[in-house]
Amino acid sequence: MLHTLGYQLVPKFLDKIELLELCNDFKNLPLSTMKIDEFGPSIYNHNIFLEILCKKVNMVSDLIGEPLFPTYCYARKYQYNANLPEHVDRPGCEISLTVHLYGDKEWEFLVRNKDKTSTGFQLNPGDALLYNGIKVPHYRNNYEGLEYSQLFLHYVRSRGQYKDYYFDNKNFFNKQKKEHDKALLKQLSQRYKDKSRD
Ligand SMILES: [Fe+2]
Repeated sequence: MLHTLGYQLVPKFLDKIELLELCNDFKNLPLSTMKIDEFGPSIYNHNIFLEILCKKVNMVSDLIGEPLFPTYCYARKYQYNANLPEHVDRPGCEISLTVHLYGDKEWEFLVRNKDKTSTGFQLNPGDALLYNGIKVPHYRNNYEGLEYSQLFLHYVRSRGQYKDYYFDNKNFFNKQKKEHDKALLKQLSQRYKDKSRD
């Protein structure tokens, strides 16, 4: 499915114990350790999420059918009215998973197909959508609940064209990362301002 469509649902990607441990940790994480913007608090390469990123590398490699290197992980607590404009990800996100941790309301994750139609997924806690982050456009409409927490795990093919992005190698790729993040943040902020004016 991943090879034809560019995405694949992975039900119960996290087992019950992993899910409980990650949720407890994330719920109790002090805000002072997180970056806060208009979409809610977020954290890059948090230790317990890095453990999962590394632990799952063989499982995800098996799903893809070739070996992968971890690049980085990111987690966010989306808040009321958060949205995600349609976009593709940077090269370090060649193979990505968006993993649902917890939320107080369902929130559809949408992917854009090659024929321009959209396919939506409602993830249960512990479920993941595996997708080709740099090829498959993805987005979310406005969240109507109060908090929705999501973990993102990113990998690159260890023998592919993006292999040098392993571990989000900042010595070589910091500049590209910064430029991409700056452009995405600008796009997100503009979208947020437009929505606020409505
Ligand atoms: Fe993305």
